[in-house]
Amino acid sequence: MVQGSVNLNIERGKEWLQDYVDNWVNFYQKQTDEGKVANYIPRLEHADPNTLGISIIGKNGTIIRSGDTDSEFSIQSISKVLSFIVACMERGLTYVLQRVDVEPTGESFNSIMHLEINQPKKPFNPLVNSGAITISSLLKGKTSDQKLEPLYQLLEKILGHRPEIDVDVYVSERDTSMRNRAIGYYLLEEGYLESDLSITLETYFKHCSLNVTVDDLAMIGLVLSNDGIHPNTDETLIPKQIARVAKSLMLTCGMYDASGKFASYVGIPAKSGVSGGILAVVPPRVREQDLPFIEGCGIGVFGPALDKQGNSIAGIKLLRHIANQWDLSLF
Ligand code: DON
Repeated sequence: MVQGSVNLNIERGKEWLQDYVDNWVNFYQKQTDEGKVANYIPRLEHADPNTLGISIIGKNGTIIRSGDTDSEFSIQSISKVLSFIVACMERGLTYVLQRVDVEPTGESFNSIMHLEINQPKKPFNPLVNSGAITISSLLKGKTSDQKLEPLYQLLEKILGHRPEIDVDVYVSERDTSMRNRAIGYYLLEEGYLESDLSITLETYFKHCSLNVTVDDLAMIGLVLSNDGIHPNTDETLIPKQIARVAKSLMLTCGMYDASGKFASYVGIPAKSGVSGGILAVVPPRVREQDLPFIEGCGIGVFGPALDKQGNSIAGIKLLRHIANQWDLSLF
């Protein structure tokens, strides 16, 4: 039995919330043994499978952090949400959606099959590899660094610091990622790419290798929850319409081929990555006023032991538990 499985009353204070989250993290940390760290990118294998950490940042400034909150890890596929947002900000939503669809695949993230069977002919969505590689080709700039500069600048405004690439992870993926090269050549043959293939892949590998912490993911989630406005500065960093499409993509396609289950059992937009990170967005709720984080929050989770679909095994269980306890579901 998980400790603290009772209805919360936020009036009892933040310390009380913190105690509950600490108990839940301790409980689910023991279940990290049931998963496996990703090893198809050799550098990822070095992660400690028993790690579990979470950061929850609310619009009113409340922060709950628990477990391993200090580790840096590569953002991996979570960066696909950001590259999509930046491409839309540069090219316009209509232009981007004419080239990449917004439909879930029900297939693994690096599937090639769906590219061949899809009508109309374009990648299914920006959160699978074919879509994300196409998005990398749409980013403006001649070099990968030029293409990624606006993404770095957006992250710098959200986080208050400029993110850095984990060079070991970047090199490890660049030198082993035959599947992504195959997808790239397929996209090139079909005429989907708007930049040179090697620059496009370099851009994709680099944004997957950006280092983040659970606090960074929670801050990104908080800005998305707040319709693209940074709650500390009131600056609109992401146009509302683009933030809205990004969140709907996270809800329908963000957790690989487990997105339907995550939407059913947790009920919030989220995006995972193979290093074990999860970015989750809790929009403001319009229910009883004493629910925790009623004005919305961002959540960052890190747990590198993955389940069969490639999602953090303990991270998913922890999020499901918190969503049930705090009534986070949109539905
Ligand atoms: O393409 C890859 O293999 C990684 N850089 C990203 C993988 C990942 O996190 C899964 N994506 N949905």
